[in-house]
Amino acid sequence: MAGTILVGTQWGDEGKGKVTDMLAHNYDYVVRFQGGNNAGHTVIHGDTKLALHLIPSGIMYDTVTPVIGNGVVIDPKVLTEEMTGLEKQGISTERLKISSNAHVIMPYHIALDGASESRLGTNKIGTTKRGIGPCYQDKYTRIGIRIQDLLDPKILREKVEAALAVKNEILRDIYSMPTYKVEDICEEYLGYAMIIRPHVVDCSRMLNDALDEGKKVLFEGAQATQLDIDHGTYPFVTSSNCTAGGAMTGAGVGPTRIQKVLGIAKAYLTRVGSGPFPTELFDEDGAKLGEVGHEYGVTTGRKRRCGWFDSVVARYAVKVNGLTDIALTKLDVLGCMDTIKICTAYEADGKVYDYVPNQQTAFHHAKPIYEEMPGWKCDISNCRSYEELPQAAKDYVEHLEELCGAPISIITVGPDRDQTIMRSWED
Ligand code: GDP
Ligand code: IMO
Ligand code: MG
Repeated sequence: MAGTILVGTQWGDEGKGKVTDMLAHNYDYVVRFQGGNNAGHTVIHGDTKLALHLIPSGIMYDTVTPVIGNGVVIDPKVLTEEMTGLEKQGISTERLKISSNAHVIMPYHIALDGASESRLGTNKIGTTKRGIGPCYQDKYTRIGIRIQDLLDPKILREKVEAALAVKNEILRDIYSMPTYKVEDICEEYLGYAMIIRPHVVDCSRMLNDALDEGKKVLFEGAQATQLDIDHGTYPFVTSSNCTAGGAMTGAGVGPTRIQKVLGIAKAYLTRVGSGPFPTELFDEDGAKLGEVGHEYGVTTGRKRRCGWFDSVVARYAVKVNGLTDIALTKLDVLGCMDTIKICTAYEADGKVYDYVPNQQTAFHHAKPIYEEMPGWKCDISNCRSYEELPQAAKDYVEHLEELCGAPISIITVGPDRDQTIMRSWED
C-alpha cells in the first residue's frame, strides 16, 4: 500500500498546495481527483511562487508525474494557459497526465454559473463563477463533454450540438443571455485538444499499474470537508466530493491502496463565499488574522472571512475522512495574538453540540463555546523543530491534538516549502 490522501479539513485554503509540494519529493505521482479551477493552491520555494488551479502541486519536481484525474472538471483554456505560464517560469509540464474521462468545462457552464448566482440574489452561494457546478450537473445528467471527446471532432460536434440544444434554450429563454454556436465552440476546443492530446491517459489503469509496481501516489484534494457536496454545509458547498472517498472515485483506485489520510487544518479558520461559519470574527481579531495571514483568495482575490479554530469541525473531518494524521498550518500567524480562542462545542437552540449538528438550521444557529489559551507573542517562522517552539505554542498544538482526536504530525510556520516542522510524519 503506497497511497496517501491529502484533504482540506475546513472550508478550503488551509495550505494544501504547500503541504503537497513539501511531501511530493517522496512520491512518484501527485494526483488531483476532484474540483477544477475553483481551487487555488499556492506553492512557494525560494524565489519561485506558483498559484496553481488545475495542475497538481507536485509539478516542481522532475521526479514526480503530475496527474489530473477523472473526477476533476477541466477548463481547457485555463489548463493550457496554466501550462504555458509554468513553462515560462522554467517548469516543464511535459510529464503532466490528464484522464481521458475527466469532464470539460464549456463556455456555457461559466455563463450559467454566473447567471444562476445572479438569480439567487442574496441567497447566492458565492461560487467562484468558474462553471464548476454546471459542469458537474451535466456530468450527472449525462450530457457532459469528456476530455476524450475533444480528441474526435465528429463526436465532439455531436455532443456539443446535443448539449447546446438545451443550454441555448435556457440561456435565451430563462436568463435572456447570449447563446452559443456549435462551430465556434468546436473550433476553439479542437485548438485546445491539439495541446492536450499528448497528455491524455487512462488514469485508473496507469495508477493501478504504478501501485502494483510499488510506486507511491499522493492524492491532492481541493476545497475541503465543509465544502463537500455530501458532507459539507449544503447548499453552501462546491459540487464534488472533496473528502477522502472522492480520491477513490476521482482517480479510479480502491481504498485498499491507501495507507495514510492527511488532513490539512489551518491553526485558525477562513471561509470564502456564503454559508454558516460559527467561529467567524467580525472584530479587530478577525481583521488582524486576515491581515497577518494575507487572507485573500488565490482564485478570485476575494477577502476571506476569518475566525477561531473550530475543534468541532476538525473532529468531524477526522471521522468523515478517516484521518490518520493532521498537518497544522499557518501556526506562525497566531504569533500576533495576546490570547487565542478554540471552539470546543456549540450552543444552538438551547442544546449543546460537541459534534456538527446534522440539521442545517442548528448549524446556522450555532454559537461557539470557547476555551482560551495564552498566545506566544513572537515570531516562530524560523523554527524548524518542535522543540524550538515556545511552550505556549506547543501547549496550543497539544491541546488541539487532544480535541481533534488525530496526531498533528506536521506543523507549518511560513509559506515556503522549508518553513515546516516534521513532528511525527512517516510515509
Ligand atoms: P490551499 O488552497 O489549501 O492550497 O491554500 P491557499 O494556497 O489557497 O492558501 C494558503 C495561503 O497560506 C497561501 O498564500 C500560502 O502561501 C500560505 N501559507 C501556507 N502555509 C503557511 C504557513 O505555515 N504560514 C503562513 N504565514 N502562510 C502559509
Ligand atoms: P482550494 O482548493 C476556498 C467555495 C466558493 C463557494 C463554494 C462553491 O483553494 O481550497 P464553486 O465555484 O466551487 O461552485 O463555489 O466553494 N470554494 C472554495 N473556497 N477554497 C477553494 O479551493 C474553493 N473552491 C470553491 O468560494 O463558497
Ligand atoms: Mg486555495
